Amino acid sequence: MSKVLVRGGRLIDPANGVNGLFDVLLEGGLVRQVANAIHAPDAQIVSAEGRLVLPGFVDIHCHLREPGYEYKEDIASGTRAAARGGFTSICCMANTSPVNDNAGVTAFIRKKAEEDGAGVRVYPVGAVTKGLEGLALTDFAGLKAAGAVALSDDGRPIADAGLFRRALELADAEGLLLLCHCEDLLLVNDGVMNEGLVSARAGLAGSIRAAEEVMIARDILVAEALGARVHICHVSTKGGVQLIREAKARGVGVAAETAPHYLAATDAWVERKGTLTRVNPPLRTEDDRLACIYGLADGTLDCIATDHAPHHANEKATDYPSAASGISGFETAFAICWTHLVEHGYMEPDQLVALMTNAPARLLGLPAGSLAVGDAADLVIADPHERWTVDASDFISKGKNTPFSGETYTGRVRETFVAGQRVFKEA
Ligand code: DOR
Ligand code: ZN
Repeated sequence: MSKVLVRGGRLIDPANGVNGLFDVLLEGGLVRQVANAIHAPDAQIVSAEGRLVLPGFVDIHCHLREPGYEYKEDIASGTRAAARGGFTSICCMANTSPVNDNAGVTAFIRKKAEEDGAGVRVYPVGAVTKGLEGLALTDFAGLKAAGAVALSDDGRPIADAGLFRRALELADAEGLLLLCHCEDLLLVNDGVMNEGLVSARAGLAGSIRAAEEVMIARDILVAEALGARVHICHVSTKGGVQLIREAKARGVGVAAETAPHYLAATDAWVERKGTLTRVNPPLRTEDDRLACIYGLADGTLDCIATDHAPHHANEKATDYPSAASGISGFETAFAICWTHLVEHGYMEPDQLVALMTNAPARLLGLPAGSLAVGDAADLVIADPHERWTVDASDFISKGKNTPFSGETYTGRVRETFVAGQRVFKEA
């Protein structure tokens, strides 16, 4: 398949200010031409009529579990699930076993992705501290040289503020963004869901929103003091959004993401959906859900990341406090975001597409998220009208752990291309 002509779709490419009916010609792994009615008799024709043609989605926060937790997910299954979700560039977190805290593990992940991956571009995130223990910093330069595109202890906060300060200075000097999992574990205090009316009714230990906000505030203030950039992962509270909004207004170099589940679900779901709702930080209240949406709409939050966190069924088939935290997110991300952000009227399609493509790509400096001539031919064909009901048993991901099974959304990824090659087509 040397030449592919994607014909008749609505091309939305916010990086280049494009939104209109265009044909896109892919050749040699790159976008060769974008125009009306391209004539290319030797190209394979892919009809996109009635559909959207978008840059491939970029996910700066996911968990592929390999090495070490292949029973939850591996690079083969995770990249295939990503392709189904329309993701063409993904950044995988370091909480594997062994932890990705050295160049050897980073190189292993890249090699595995080349060998077993579904063609999706995999970018490892290196650990900030050895073994994610929060005690000793890793070799940032060595991780970067091996291909790490950012640094994070995601899954665990860096409790020691002094160590965090040094990490931020060194990461900034290295040109690597620190992706911060913000939770003060002393405030979490074994809480397993959001603290509020629902936790009280369910008899479950709650975690107050301040547990997240205290650490967002700390990270912002340290970054401000140092004049460094910092990125806040999976923001879930109204107060967190407000802290970031105020910091940005002061000119602090803070960026932030939220995840689809915080836009679509609340702690009220815990009673209905059980352990499938367990995630860190936890699902919050309706007020917080709306604040995350407003935060994306007004630019306070820079991008959407899935935090795809696959787990084995057995790890969810237990009582709430014992259940693993995390939601398998690749295969529902676009539908949830399209429904909750675009269909519900909070933003135009172009803005959502930017939040899933060039905005995250720019944060980490990834060569993705844009379909100008000469760019990588990574793209998604999506049906903006298709209504479908999530069935987790049908997921490609090994992780069937989603509270969204049985829910109906609008918008579906139909085909995904990386470097001009089709890596996924919905049956
Ligand atoms: O719920 C979560 N699961 N939050 C995290 O930060 C880590 C993730 C995981 O690795 O399972
Ligand atoms: Zn996290």
